Amino acid sequence: MNVYDSQRMTGILAPLGYELTAEPAEAALIILNTCHIRDKAAEKVYSELGRIRMLKNDSSATRPLIAVAGCVAQAEGEEILARAPAVDIVVGPQAYHRLPELIARATKTQRAAIDTEFPAIAKFDQLPQADATPSPGAAFLTVQEGCDRFCTFCVVPYTRGPEYSRPVASVVAEAERFAALGACEITLLGQNVNAYHGADEAGRNIGLGALIARVAAIAGIERVRYTTSHPADMTAELIAAHGAIPALMPFVHLPVQSGSDRVLKAMNRRHTADDYRRIVERLRGARADLALSSDFIVGFPGETDDDFEATLALVADIGFAQAYSFKYSARPGTPAADQPQVAEAVKSERLAALQGLLDRQQSAFNAASVGSTIDVLFERAGRRPGQVIGRSPHMQAVHVDGPATLIGRIARVRVVEGGANSIGGRLLDEVPA
Ligand code: 5AD
Ligand code: SF4
Repeated sequence: MNVYDSQRMTGILAPLGYELTAEPAEAALIILNTCHIRDKAAEKVYSELGRIRMLKNDSSATRPLIAVAGCVAQAEGEEILARAPAVDIVVGPQAYHRLPELIARATKTQRAAIDTEFPAIAKFDQLPQADATPSPGAAFLTVQEGCDRFCTFCVVPYTRGPEYSRPVASVVAEAERFAALGACEITLLGQNVNAYHGADEAGRNIGLGALIARVAAIAGIERVRYTTSHPADMTAELIAAHGAIPALMPFVHLPVQSGSDRVLKAMNRRHTADDYRRIVERLRGARADLALSSDFIVGFPGETDDDFEATLALVADIGFAQAYSFKYSARPGTPAADQPQVAEAVKSERLAALQGLLDRQQSAFNAASVGSTIDVLFERAGRRPGQVIGRSPHMQAVHVDGPATLIGRIARVRVVEGGANSIGGRLLDEVPA
């Protein structure tokens, strides 16, 4: 979502004459778009600010304005200025449309400008539309923001605020715009995207399944994805959409966090491990080739060896194509942060064991793709000359030998090789020069 937000910020600054540069020393304004989900991500902001601060003293640089955007800005506000006085602007995720005003204020007054309000007017209506897709052929599109679930480990309900769904018409208009800019794949985004319930043109609330159908019907859109979902919001309608909409890719990122009912309860996830198993079964029932990815937290406060074993057992039962796993990180202001913590060494041990199992599952999934014929959306040049890299329907990175003209397009590929993190293939389509 930060990629999407950064693009919107670029759009809002373009009328002021700002253009993107890859060179920090050339920049008149540097915006760090930050993440507060775990301590490591938040701390990275300060080490990065330390590096950027040098540019302010460097006579060969442009002495840029420095802005901190995103969830660290939202969560820490004034504290950022105390730790990093070189910062000129602090802007939370709900206030990006006010960036021009904040820049003017910081420039005029020579004092830091802060905006971490949650304004009543939806920012989406005030941000200009994109003029390019972030990656050739593919675009992210935020349809839902914020979260009302309050999992006890998570900062999102505090930093991104209450759950908000965009109206259907504005989502469809933006998807049409991306299609006109050459996108054939749209990924619908939200912190809890399957809680989507936007109003359609007739004023009725529709769910994510119906929204996906609307986006999939747009000429030029061949692939639709969505992320990230909560198991308890996996409705029958959305599950059915996987069987009914061919453009909906057979891949779901469905975080489960833990396989222990005790831990799930303490996390306030409001479902059991068996609920999760049943949801996966229903998804696979709707679409047999559906693959899953997930997020896991190890070392949540109170997690015992038995709890962790239950997580390994769930992973073994499901068989994930890919997954992310993290050590629990205590976040200020969240309920779990005050609980007795699991020792760091135990967390490290559990993380290594879980990642070992998940890596084996990913390799097995990639190996099982060998011999199949798949559609690949090519997105960038590979490391070797003459190589291009894209994504399979199952989100695997796919490398083939082929021309750069493939980038931004979908082509047929025969998978010939499966690795730990990617698969290799041979082009089957004739490729125009
Ligand atoms: N500690 C560790 N991981 C976390 N996540 C969210 N909050 C925390 C935390 N406090 C993970 C969850 C979530 C993903 C985006 O980040 O697994 O699904
Ligand atoms: Fe955080 Fe997701 Fe739980 Fe919402 S549903 S509180 S975003 S982990």
